Amino acid sequence: MRFTKKDILDIDSLEPREISMILDTAQGMKEISERPVKKVPTLRGKTIVLFFQEPSTRTKLSFDTAAKRLSADCLSISKGSSSIVKGETLIDTAKNLEAMRPDVIVLRHPSSGAPHLIARRVNASVINAGDGIHAHPSQALLDMLSVRERKGELAGLNVSIIGDIAHSRVARSDIIGFSKMGARVSICAPGTMIPKGIETLGCTVAPTIEACVEGADVVMMLRIQKERQGSVLFPSEREYARLFGLNKERLALAKKDALVMHPGPMNRGIEISSEVADSAGSIILEQVTNGVALRMALFYLVAGGSRHADAD
Ligand code: CP
Repeated sequence: MRFTKKDILDIDSLEPREISMILDTAQGMKEISERPVKKVPTLRGKTIVLFFQEPSTRTKLSFDTAAKRLSADCLSISKGSSSIVKGETLIDTAKNLEAMRPDVIVLRHPSSGAPHLIARRVNASVINAGDGIHAHPSQALLDMLSVRERKGELAGLNVSIIGDIAHSRVARSDIIGFSKMGARVSICAPGTMIPKGIETLGCTVAPTIEACVEGADVVMMLRIQKERQGSVLFPSEREYARLFGLNKERLALAKKDALVMHPGPMNRGIEISSEVADSAGSIILEQVTNGVALRMALFYLVAGGSRHADAD
């Protein structure tokens, strides 16, 4: 099978067979990071631009690491260091990047839809590294990779996602991705953090965290995204932790071998206790390790894989 997508903009536009192909490719990439010399020549001569207009630790560093492990030339600009601060528009910035002939542009942007906007205007592949509250496809793909690696398959699993669903691009992409791959997704949050009609993405809404966690194979906790909330949506962090935080008593309601996940950054003591975050069932740091392999796979498939086979 050939991978024919130019861009990776969201999970909605990926078919289950394409998701499986990305996960299989990422699984194959993992051993490169375990070698004494962590570098292969696969993308030598390709140019990748990382354009992050929001803060990031995991996503930016893992895209950067992924590009370097595949021997691509990787350049990076941020909002503060670009001419956006002088009033240049996103589209003009993208056209100027395009004029330097990059092969891939990775964009993180506070506005939902920004990567889609530039993907239509540039020949380079565009990978969405998180746009507003809309989508974070590479995070959902690395989450699926991490669960599939531990559980063997995704179909039939009970996946619980708890936290600020309304403002989480990770939640949206994970709900769509896991349900596309045959998992049952249950979500839970304060009523003020559940968007109307969220069930249409492929999940059910549980009335309490206990009901959401009961019988789960995977419990994924989300941070409260204060930077995206226009008004106060819960009384206090203490109250939130009491009603919606994951502690070991609540985790005991899940299956014995349940996986605990978090996309990061974590706010320990609010959505998750340290005891649970650091417990044997936690795969939070495995998610980060898998993020590098997953992003290597995305670069390979859009810039160097079968999409370009005829040009090789
Ligand atoms: N998961 C995630 O997107 O983390 P960063 O914001 O640190 O990239």
